[in-house]
Amino acid sequence: MQLEVQPHGGKLINRIAKPSEAETLLEKSRSLRAIHLINRRISDLEMIAVGAFSPIEGFLCRADYENVVVNKRLASGLPWTIPVTLAVIREEAEEIELDEEIVLVDSHENSLAILQVEEKYAYNREREARLVYGTTDLKHPGVFNLYRRGDVHLGGKITLIQRSSKIDTFARHRLDPIDTRHEFASRGWRRIVGFQTRNPVHRAHEYIQKAALETMDGLLLHPLVGETKSDDIPAEVRMKCYEVLLENYYPRDRVLLSVLPAVMRYAGPREAIFHALVRKNYGCSHFIVGRDHAGVGSYYGTYDAQYIFDEFEEDELGITPMFFDHTFFCRKCESMASIKTCPHADKDHVTLSGTKVRELLSQGVLPPQEFSRPEVARVLIEAMKG
Ligand code: ADX
Repeated sequence: MQLEVQPHGGKLINRIAKPSEAETLLEKSRSLRAIHLINRRISDLEMIAVGAFSPIEGFLCRADYENVVVNKRLASGLPWTIPVTLAVIREEAEEIELDEEIVLVDSHENSLAILQVEEKYAYNREREARLVYGTTDLKHPGVFNLYRRGDVHLGGKITLIQRSSKIDTFARHRLDPIDTRHEFASRGWRRIVGFQTRNPVHRAHEYIQKAALETMDGLLLHPLVGETKSDDIPAEVRMKCYEVLLENYYPRDRVLLSVLPAVMRYAGPREAIFHALVRKNYGCSHFIVGRDHAGVGSYYGTYDAQYIFDEFEEDELGITPMFFDHTFFCRKCESMASIKTCPHADKDHVTLSGTKVRELLSQGVLPPQEFSRPEVARVLIEAMKG
């Protein structure tokens, strides 16, 4: 058996300037044309630099972009389902020369990275919305963000000079792909299942994580902490929920809690593939995909994010999905179960809508413990008091 899971494309990308070069690049950046990045792009930039998006080394050029949007693959044929692009307004693009080096800066004018502009190209927003998100409805948060972007993509490799100032948040749990890989190796884990999440952890999450862990060496709990939609629970609160859950209910030597500093796209099926490939880059051999993974509203079918895996050969993805049906607590079974394992009727199942849970929590009421661990619910109640 191979010792370590191979990164996507075979090589873990590292686009972080070496400490010896960073100073020179910083100096040089002062004379370069600057492009301001919003937080969502800063996240993409850092994900590229640390190799989380391997084999991608920069913002996508046209051939890769076209292939990703239309064929769910890079131009090389390697599976990739989400375009990672940098868009600027037309006037800005017109001034930029091909091969020019530009500096990417944050809102405080800190130089974050150098982009070597290889290509400038227009793109069709409506087509991207339709093919990537399956809708052009502006109420879809991913589509909404897409329609707010500039008209021209700049493609080219990046070199990261320094990380954004937000690096200290979650410092304890912030591990790059190289770090998680080291950690897995030092723990002797070979079969590692990754878990993506953007919501406060509840019993169904816990159940599918533990069900998967039964046949694995280790579990990477990998909550996404980049930008989410405004009514999602803030990442700081979700991380606190995980900390109390781990303290009370998990074997610490079989679980690694770390953050994924990526932004949420809410692209459902396509994002499930993307999430899996990214976790492969962090060193996972398996990846959990449950009900309506990365979905929002009713744009995707409950299991579309599982069906999309049929479009790829397992060896070209290089990470094995673990699918879970809708899970719940069943009063008759007296345990967590899913429609695959429980013969009882809906009325015997404890299921609560997100709205109902929020209502309870905002009144300071603990939801049934079959739905949420009391320790977790208390963190949420505290957070809601603001
Ligand atoms: S997501 O946008 O990150 O997918 P969430 O944090 O709710 O949202 O889900 C994390 C993972 O748990 C996803 O794989 C999702 O499909 C799965 N999941 C969430 N709730 C359930 C449930 N009740 N039954 C089965 N899988 C679930």
